[in-house]
Amino acid sequence: MLDTVIVAGKNNIAINVCSFLLEKKINLYAVLTKNDNGVDSFQSSFKKFCLQNKLRVISLRESYRIDNSIFLSLQFDQIVKPELFSHHRLYNVHFSLLPEYKGMYTAILPLLHQRKNSGVTLHKINQGIDTGDIIEQKKIPLSSDETAESLYSKYIELGTQITTKNLETLLADSFSSYPQTSSGASYYSKKAINYSCLELDTFKTASEIKAQVQAFTFRNYQLLKWKNYTFIGCSISKNASTLKPGTILKATQNKLILASMDFDIVLYLDTLEELILNIKNGQLAEIKHRLTENPLLLKQRTLKGCSPIIIAASYSQFEVVKYLLTKDAKINDSDYQGKSLILYALEDAERRNSIEQLSELIQLSADLCPQAYNGSLLSSLSTCQAHLIKEFFQKYKSHI
Ligand code: TYD
Repeated sequence: MLDTVIVAGKNNIAINVCSFLLEKKINLYAVLTKNDNGVDSFQSSFKKFCLQNKLRVISLRESYRIDNSIFLSLQFDQIVKPELFSHHRLYNVHFSLLPEYKGMYTAILPLLHQRKNSGVTLHKINQGIDTGDIIEQKKIPLSSDETAESLYSKYIELGTQITTKNLETLLADSFSSYPQTSSGASYYSKKAINYSCLELDTFKTASEIKAQVQAFTFRNYQLLKWKNYTFIGCSISKNASTLKPGTILKATQNKLILASMDFDIVLYLDTLEELILNIKNGQLAEIKHRLTENPLLLKQRTLKGCSPIIIAASYSQFEVVKYLLTKDAKINDSDYQGKSLILYALEDAERRNSIEQLSELIQLSADLCPQAYNGSLLSSLSTCQAHLIKEFFQKYKSHI
């Protein structure tokens, strides 16, 4: 049984897998991607994780000569050449149901092409791009409201699962695999999409327009635009279009109704900033109106991953919190770095120097589980916040 793993990659998938390997006390090396700047975004930085956990970071070239190891590529940005390695235990997790969608843009293209499924594939690395023998695949059914962003987060989760599940057999070199078929295979290179000139094409059917919008909905990268509008989603009406595709039939603050090649469509506008302003000011009537016209706003998050309910809690707008809970928002929601709603509320309590209103959150079953305040989050708190938390716990101990 081998005892060394080289993880080459980026984002939460590389971090999740390394955390799993660290727990198993497996010897680890990391190879970083070129544009990992050590700063967390909607995905955490693998470079930062390596520094924090004192992982040995090596170059791809250095990894060629590490014997008795397996090489795992998890969203790595370079082409790995097997002939340069001293062994053949090289594996990749590709974010598609191979043999289709080899190459790039796999969170976008299956949606753009209106596929029913996508998936993740663990495969051997050979000379080609995503062409090696398949070890395991997991299918992901694409829901009618799937966006590139939601699909990518499913890829990360399932990609982590498929890797950790197979690690022992990879280390023992005791897995089976099968070659990819040529039928149904597809490949997309960098040329397939130019992010800098994306615009909605309205000379399409309703279903093609919906696919375009959802395929490019990924707030941390881009949202699809048309004229002066920016969209977060789309639904198809039952009305057959009688006017020229692209004719605006109705425009409100929150949505646009447009004629297409076949059916009229409703395009939901990105009014997250306006919603945030309403929340900060506690304008409940405006919030209700906005969310009725544009229910997709409820699912939106800021670049840091703050949802409307987190924003409401961080401005102590508890009436808004209560209203959002009736709309399926989660009281124990957290941002992309795992910072929980109650922690945001505590920060506001610190600014106001009052913990009184926080009792409202407890009554709404906000999780006071101490691990929410552990680790890096606790160490990033000011003394004053730490004191507030202590006071808070003492006062409401009976609720915990
Ligand atoms: P990336 O990690 O660059 O990999 P790839 O293009 O090979 O899939 O991006 C992951 C997903 O993020 C990608 O499939 C689509 C989405 N994305 C955008 O929507 N816009 C962008 O500008 C980038 C870079 C990515």
